[in-house]
Amino acid sequence: MTPSLETKNLTIRFGGHTAVDAVSCAFHPGELTVVVGPNGAGKTTFFNLVSGQLAPSEGEILKNGEEIGTLSPSARARRGIGRAFQLTNLFPRLTVLENVRLAVQAREGLGPNFLRRAAALRGLRERAFSHLEATRLKEVAHLPASALPHGDQRKLEVALLLAMEPDIFMFDEPTAGMSVDEAPVILDLIADIRKDKTKTILLVEHKMDVVRALADRIVVLHNGQLVADGNPDEVIALPIVREIYLGIPADEEDAA
Ligand SMILES: Nc1ncnc2c1ncn2[C@@H]1O[C@H](COP(=O)(O)OP(=O)(O)OP(=O)(O)O)[C@@H](O)[C@H]1O
Ligand SMILES: [Mg+2]
Repeated sequence: MTPSLETKNLTIRFGGHTAVDAVSCAFHPGELTVVVGPNGAGKTTFFNLVSGQLAPSEGEILKNGEEIGTLSPSARARRGIGRAFQLTNLFPRLTVLENVRLAVQAREGLGPNFLRRAAALRGLRERAFSHLEATRLKEVAHLPASALPHGDQRKLEVALLLAMEPDIFMFDEPTAGMSVDEAPVILDLIADIRKDKTKTILLVEHKMDVVRALADRIVVLHNGQLVADGNPDEVIALPIVREIYLGIPADEEDAA
């Protein structure tokens, strides 16, 4: 089966530092891959290369077998590469609902004339509402986006990602900074996306309980290199993972 996403020899150097170093890795629909590794391992940089925020020094990125590594980030988004971003390209004075509605509209490639038809606008708003429902943001739908507390802003990032209807989902520490009540909303949503076997999910996550609950596969980055790749039990048991990632000696974990 052609991978939905594949990197070949993907490499980026910043000055003398190789942040992502010859990573060759294939991902398939219906698979949730957790990317782990210590701080500075290159996880976010790998995502930035795939989504097009950074241009590789070397290597290729293939979506369904086609090279996309020279396309702009927005062209990659239209091809189905979905990345949740910090909310820098949001309209802060528009409401949460309007922001998601605009994302739905952009996904459809619909111009302003389309909105002269009230029924069409209603349809877009309904779709936007369904994404707010999924991310538990309905209660704040009518607040300006800039007024949201941190946890809700992170949820809005995910709502905007849903509005893009990508087939590759990339989540970089999606629950970072969320409260214990908020995090499960996002994790349940990721679990739901995983149930739709047509989607490919890449997740950077540090919390081991989350990794164990969601991962179909774990890849480990260390100093920019892919040092392990396999099923969760096998990868978690590897000495290199215990040492560089879990930071606990093997006998200590066995005792726990
Ligand atoms: N734009 C950049 N210019 C220079 N160096 C960069 C740039 N982006 C990342 N780096 C460097 O690349 C390395 C990998 O960083 P990256 O943010 O990808 O790590 P990470 O695995 O996501 O870490 P964390 O777990 O802390 O989020 C780091 O040494 C970082 O300083
Ligand atoms: Mg990071």
